[in-house]
Order: sequence, then structure tokens, then C-alpha cells
Amino acid sequence: MSAARLLAGIAIAGLALAGRALAGTPDAAAIARQGNGHGAAPCASCHGADGGGQPAAGFPRLAGLPAAYLLEQLDDFAAGTRRNATMQPVAAALSEPERQAMAAYYGKLPAPASPPAAAAAPADAALQAQGKALAERGRWSQGLPACEQCHGPGGVGVGQRFPPLAGQSAVYIANQLHAWRGGTRRNDPLQLMQAVAAKLSEADIAAVGAWYAAQPSTLGGGQQP
Ligand code: HEC
Ligand code: HEC
Repeated sequence: MSAARLLAGIAIAGLALAGRALAGTPDAAAIARQGNGHGAAPCASCHGADGGGQPAAGFPRLAGLPAAYLLEQLDDFAAGTRRNATMQPVAAALSEPERQAMAAYYGKLPAPASPPAAAAAPADAALQAQGKALAERGRWSQGLPACEQCHGPGGVGVGQRFPPLAGQSAVYIANQLHAWRGGTRRNDPLQLMQAVAAKLSEADIAAVGAWYAAQPSTLGGGQQP
């Protein structure tokens, strides 16, 4: 066989392989818009076309969250270590490659430009001040660290493990803190958030939710190391 024919043969084999890889890669944008056709409803119907979520309904924003964090959450919903009646059946209906594709897709979407409209409603000033104090200083008398120590200045998130809170829905933030207190979210391997949530009162939960929902999300996103 001539060198030219050998090269052509290799090129054709390469193309065939690339074609197969493409056919086997889930189309994340299509799943977001239309669902996967075997049980997973369109993500956009709850999380918004831009991945910004629906704050008042407690549907979180996914756009710009770290991909590794998103994948872990989808795996945990599917496995049942994170319980939620709405999201568990969706995650369980996604194959593993589909969960990976969805996590990568939302991780790359830009964070919505400003706090969602529903979160921008002028919140009570005293509530905001209490939220800011917890976020930036914590409460050392109780051994409660500042949220910023793990979630970064302004709550923009740190690396792949500490998700952003800035611009996230206040309803959703409160739901998560209640889920840790009630034991329905126990997927954090180090139990860091169980310890934090146990030290928060109802007023604290309302305050940090209001504070973070009003912070700009654009400083962070999934692009940090
Ligand atoms: C019927 C509404 C609905 C649909 C459809 C839906 N979700 Fe969700 N999703 C939710 C709700 C509600 C939560 C919050 C659950 C909770 O409070 O723990 C959530 C949470 C999540 C989270 C966790 C986010 C975080 O910050 O921890 C991820 C990841 C997620 N959804 C991905 C998806 C993907 C990917 C799809 C599409 C394949 C999808 N969702 C479709 C309602 C939905
Ligand atoms: C010691 C580190 C640490 C501190 C301090 C901390 N967090 Fe977290 N937080 C985490 C980790 C780690 C996760 C991700 C858990 C997981 O992987 O499921 C998280 C997740 C969350 C989430 C879920 C976000 C989402 O998208 O689902 C909320 C809400 C939250 N934290 C709120 C707070 C608030 C409010 C404070 C301050 C009162 C705080 N955290 C302080 C480590 C911390």
C-alpha cells in the first residue's frame, strides 16, 4: 500500500471515529430546550432559557455554576442522597453521559447579568443588614464562620466545590438551609453545610437569603480555577 493510500485510510478511519463520538455525545442544548425524550422534562421550563432560574418559585439559577458542582448535584439527586420531589425524577431520567453534558453546558453559560427581577425587590433594610453581617463576619460567639470564608467575597463562589450564592434565589437558598437542617440534603461529604445550617435561626435564614439574592452574580461564574 502506498504511503498516500495509507494516509487516506487513516484519515477516513479518523473521520468515522469522530462521527461516532459526535453521534454518541448528548446534545445538551437540545435537552435543555426539549427534554431527552425518555423522562427528563426540558430544563429550561423550570430553570429558564438562559439558566437564570425562577427566583420566586425556588428554581435555582444554574448558569455559570461550577460544572463539577453541578454534576455532583445531578448524581446525588439521581442516587437519592439529595432529596427533592421535583428534581429527583428529572436527574434519574438522565443517563450518566447526559448528566455530564448538562453540567458542562450550564457551567459554560454566562451568569445572568444582574440579580433576577424578583430578588431585586427592595428588601427590608434591617433584614439586609443582618444578612450582610452573617455573610461577611459570621457569628463567632456560636462558632459560625462567615459565609464568605467558603463562598468567597460577595458570595461569587470559590473553585469547583463552593458554589456561588450571589444572585441566587432567596427562596431557593432558604429551601437548601432548611433541607440541611431537616436532613433531606446530606450529600456534602464533609457535612460543612449541616454544621452551618444548624446554627441559623429562621430570621438568619431569611436574612442571608435576602442579602445574597440582591448581590451581583456577574463577578463570579464557572470560570474560576
Ligand atoms: C419541573 C421543574 C424542573 C425541571 C424540568 C428541571 N429542574 Fe432542576 N431543579 C428544580 C428544582 C425545584 C430544584 C431545586 C431542588 C431543591 O430545592 O433542592 C432544581 C435543582 C437543580 C440543580 C441543583 C442546583 C444547585 O445549585 O445545587 C441542578 C444541577 C439541576 N436542577 C439541573 C437540572 C437539569 C440539567 C434539568 C434538565 C435535564 C433540570 N434541572 C430540570 C426543578 C426542575
Ligand atoms: C466551611 C465552609 C462553608 C461555610 C462557612 C458556608 N458554606 Fe455554604 N456550602 C459549602 C459547601 C462545601 C457547599 C456545597 C455542598 C455540596 O457540595 O452539596 C455549600 C453550599 C451552600 C448552598 C447551596 C447552594 C446551591 O447552589 O445549592 C447554600 C444555599 C449555602 N451553602 C449557604 C451558605 C450560607 C448562607 C452560609 C453562611 C451562613 C454558608 N453557606 C457558609 C461550604 C460552606
